[in-house]
Parts: sequence; structure tokens; C-alpha cells
Amino acid sequence: MSEKAFNEKVFNWQLNRKMDYKYPESRPVKQAAWVFDTNKCIACQTCTLACKNAWTAGKGQEYMFWNNVETKPWGFYPLGYDIKILEKLGVQKWEGDKYAGKTIFEGAPYGEEILGWMPEKEDWAHPNIGEDEINQQIKDKASFGLPHTNWMFYLQRICNHCTYPACLAACPRKAIYKRKEDGIVLIDQDRCRGYQECVRACPYKKSMFREYTGNSEKCISCYPAVENGYQTQCVINCIGRIRISGFKSTWNTPREDNPIDYLVHFAKVALPLYPQFGLEPNVYYIPPIHVPEVFNKQLFGPGAKKAVELYHKATQDKKLIGLLMLFGATDRIVHSFKVEGEISDGQCIGYDEKGVEIVRVPLTEPVIIRKEYDEQLDVQRFSVT
Ligand code: SF4
Ligand code: SF4
Ligand code: SF4
Ligand code: F3S
Repeated sequence: MSEKAFNEKVFNWQLNRKMDYKYPESRPVKQAAWVFDTNKCIACQTCTLACKNAWTAGKGQEYMFWNNVETKPWGFYPLGYDIKILEKLGVQKWEGDKYAGKTIFEGAPYGEEILGWMPEKEDWAHPNIGEDEINQQIKDKASFGLPHTNWMFYLQRICNHCTYPACLAACPRKAIYKRKEDGIVLIDQDRCRGYQECVRACPYKKSMFREYTGNSEKCISCYPAVENGYQTQCVINCIGRIRISGFKSTWNTPREDNPIDYLVHFAKVALPLYPQFGLEPNVYYIPPIHVPEVFNKQLFGPGAKKAVELYHKATQDKKLIGLLMLFGATDRIVHSFKVEGEISDGQCIGYDEKGVEIVRVPLTEPVIIRKEYDEQLDVQRFSVT
């Protein structure tokens, strides 16, 4: 029997209920947030290296990847990070869109505040373990068919800049803070004493200990760029154009013309990762469309089935198509957007905070077929793709 660790009751919209947390509910004015389309990722790891070159190229950071892309179901960084906490949490029951199980704040054993675990050093040593491995062995005489019985997909992971960060709640030094102006979660390097309670508590394992300095470090949401109206490095360098970053409004006052709000609250096509942990994470995923429903539900909650259905008929929603085309089309943060025209000839236009147009993309990309023999230049092309 566990005694309740925290007395505060806060509302978690992803669970559709109140839950226990260490501190009172205090939401930022606007929240830094991301949407990743898992269906378009090619696991090129350009995002991983863009982040590494920008922020973790120093001594003692060799195995530190604030951004990583893992192949599910067998990829983990660190090893087994999610299955270990899922197992500890026990049955995670949803009643419709309401979470009826325990969060990591509610499921802590007696004497502990947060249900967590500490990875071993070796667990961090294979950041791309399980790459491209499928869920099961291919059976003899198997042939390709739908739905896929053999599957895998790529899961892109950064710190979720959670509304209720476990790292922040766990730190005895109060060295971790969430910025009121944009919801970015940071570790104060002067206050940190290396207690690593943040590492133990974060179920996504996105707070990482650096022995060289004796402090923990984590994704900083590229705040110098974000403060100047630019998207984050892992977003703007993405080869597959699967990412967008910006600001999300508070859950109960979403704006239909805000790209992130539209995908999360209006279209409901983008969902949080493991909402059942209770942190209200702010990285949202368009779930993979070829993966068993039950797996998607465990990762992305009860909205996954509908999100997949919506993605299948995305062309019926001009705004959704417009936004998907906007992914990776600009390095600036798009504060609002609008769509003009029809799917065949229309455009999606993005605006900055002051309402100035910063990007314009077609709803349908033009198809250009190059001839093998170019008469004008009198050259033969060997690659016409
Ligand atoms: Fe903290 Fe982990 Fe949430 Fe990031 S993902 S804010 S490190 S609890
Ligand atoms: Fe790295 Fe910036 Fe992406 Fe965080 S937001 S993972 S710091 S590139
Ligand atoms: Fe996937 Fe984009 Fe990262 Fe490549 S850069 S691994 S496509 S998220
Ligand atoms: Fe606190 Fe984590 Fe540092 S628990 S003291 S921020 S290592």
C-alpha cells in the first residue's frame, strides 16, 4: 500500500482528469511544442547529428544524444527505457478518453515520490540498438500483404518540455525550472550538484548525467533560436521534412490558425508519447499507420486509432494537407497559417508573430518530368528521377 506522495491536484488534459503533482498547476503563457510525423521519417539521423554538433560535442558528452531516433519495437535509448517503466507502472487502463490507471506520480512505492529507475552506464552505450529490426521473424513462405504482420517504425525523441516535468519535481536542489514565457524546461548548471534524481525520475530518460562536469544536462529546446523566432536545429535540419516546432496554446484556449493547436486540438492527428506517465509531454506524434492498433494505443493513447484513420483521408482536410506541406519549409516559427484554393492548385501560407508572411507552399507539389535527352543543352541524362 503506497502513501500519497504529493498533495497538489493538477489537471492533465491528456488524461482528461486531475492527478497528483508536487507543485500547483502553473502553465506557461505559451508552450514550446513539436509535431513529428512518424510516417515520413527515414532514420537518416540528420536531426541527431544537427543537435549533437550544436550542443553536445564536448568532452564527456560522447554518448549523450538529446535527440535520438530509435526503431520501434526493439530500439531504445537508453536500453529498455520505456518497457522498464511500463512494467513498473502495471496495468494502464483507459476508460474512453479518461485514464483510469496510475501515473508515475501516483504509482510511487512507499517512501518514494516518483516511480522511476536508474539506467546502468552500459544502457547508454548503444544509442541506435535495434535499428531496422522488425517485430518478429519473417515466417517461411511469407509474402507481402496488408495489414503488415511484420513491421517496425522510427520514433524520434527529444525532451518533451513537459507541463508536469518529473525531472523538475524530483530534483532536491530545485535546480530545474520551467520558463513561464515559453514552457522550456532547463537545468541550472550552477545549482545542479549531480544528484541524478532527475535521471531516475524522467520516464523518457531525457535528463542525462555528464560525469566530466558532475552535472546533468538535457535538451534546451535550442532556446537562443526559439527566442528569436526560429525553429529548433533538429527540426530545420530534418531531411524527411517530418517535423515542425512552434508554440502551443493552453489546452482549453486553442487557436484554429495556430499550426500546432490545429494538429493537436482540432484535427487531433498528433498525439503525446506515453500520456499515461502523467507528465503532459509537449512533443506530439502522428502515429504510424501500418502498426497494430494495440501497440499504437500503448504508445500514443486512445486517440491513436482515429488519428490513423484521419491520416488515411488527409486529402479531405485542406488545412491538414497545408500544414503537412509546411513541415520543413521554413526555419522560422509559424505562429499562424491559412489555406487558399483547392487541394489541386491551392497554397498554405504561414505568418510570423506580427502577422507578416514568412512562407508559402503549394498544397500539391508540382511533378516535373525531365526528358532523357535534353535538346536545348544537347545532353543525355542518365538519371531522370
Ligand atoms: Fe524533464 Fe524528462 Fe519531461 Fe524532459 S521529458 S521535461 S527531462 S521529465
Ligand atoms: Fe537538440 Fe535543440 Fe532539438 Fe533539443 S530542440 S533536441 S537542443 S536540436
Ligand atoms: Fe527522421 Fe528527419 Fe531525423 Fe532523418 S532528420 S532521422 S527523417 S526525423
Ligand atoms: Fe538536481 Fe538532477 Fe542536478 S536531480 S542536482 S538537476 S543531477
